[in-house]
Amino acid sequence: MPTIDDLELRPGHRVLLRADLNVPLRTAPDGTRVVADSFRIDAALSTIARLLEAGAEVVVCSHLGRPKGVDSAFDMEPVRAVIADHFPEVEVLENLRFDPREEANDPGFAAELAAGFDVYVNDAFGVSHRRHASIVGVPPLLPSAGGITLLEEVKNLTLLLEAPARPYVAVLGGAKVSDKLGLLNALVRQVDTLLVGGGMCFTFLAARGVEVGDSLVEEQMIDQCQHLLDTGKVVLPLDIMGLATGDSFGEGERTGEPQRFGLGVPAGYRGLDVGAATVERFGEILVDARSILWNGPMGVFEDPRFRQGTDGVAAAIGRSEAYSVVGGGDSVAALHQAGLAKNVSHLSTGGGATLEYLEHGDLVGLAALRHSREP
Ligand code: 3PG
Ligand code: MG
Repeated sequence: MPTIDDLELRPGHRVLLRADLNVPLRTAPDGTRVVADSFRIDAALSTIARLLEAGAEVVVCSHLGRPKGVDSAFDMEPVRAVIADHFPEVEVLENLRFDPREEANDPGFAAELAAGFDVYVNDAFGVSHRRHASIVGVPPLLPSAGGITLLEEVKNLTLLLEAPARPYVAVLGGAKVSDKLGLLNALVRQVDTLLVGGGMCFTFLAARGVEVGDSLVEEQMIDQCQHLLDTGKVVLPLDIMGLATGDSFGEGERTGEPQRFGLGVPAGYRGLDVGAATVERFGEILVDARSILWNGPMGVFEDPRFRQGTDGVAAAIGRSEAYSVVGGGDSVAALHQAGLAKNVSHLSTGGGATLEYLEHGDLVGLAALRHSREP
């Protein structure tokens, strides 16, 4: 993979930097949109600094959210303000996804992006699984390199892929088995133990014949879960926290009394988090691990009644001495909130990209850099 040093930058060189500045926003009391968590912007700063030190002129481009066309709720202004605090001389282009040609990987759009630049740097690991113009369309047009954060991501994830210290334990959460089936199949081959929580655990529990009440189950995935269980590597929750089916949970209205269920969730109830016995069991397994991968919350953790599983996993990983990699916005946010982010070996800036890299060992955006235009 070509690095910034391979670009032999000279003062005045114009660099197009693709970063993943897709950060969560919030509305300030005065009504302006501001960055709620600058983790991904911070991750791009070292590459910007390196380029500026070489005397280059830097123009940064990114997407923000998933707008359908031009939409002021997704303009780059809040991100631009944070970048300007660090580097007032750096220009930030408008949201790439305001133009439908970005996601269509339109060659004309790639040519417009590349025009007037001497080199291209991709530091956007989190979006390097997308076949978009700014990721795969530009490298054939300009001498290109991976940025510091992107290379760091690849280095850390390659460690897990190629030579993980064992036991290697993965903790997987999130709502759906169907979203992560490819990853699940790849992971059971790589890891020694796979701890499953989050919404997806109910399809696994159903496959094992455990009652799940009205919990989220993907019927069409039960056979797949059965195959995964047959490997003997999957550990499921021992207890579940939930609510009566009519009650509400999440970020809005919250009703009902949380209940704890031992083996199985009865009819009329749905599971929304793992329980204390599960946290303890998962913790015991994580203590013995020498490599850990965590992606996805264990429950509906935006509702404080159902965040003990996610917090418990965060705490166990925080205590662990294993080589640990955590990816995905929710898991990373949980670690930050618990003040444990510094205890993790590698906090990935990617969600989907991290999982795709672990599944396939490569991403379209990385391949594009390896086949970029000769200097
Ligand atoms: C992310 O947030 O996962 C990346 O920025 C990619 O965004 P996307 O999933 O909308 O392509
Ligand atoms: Mg995503």
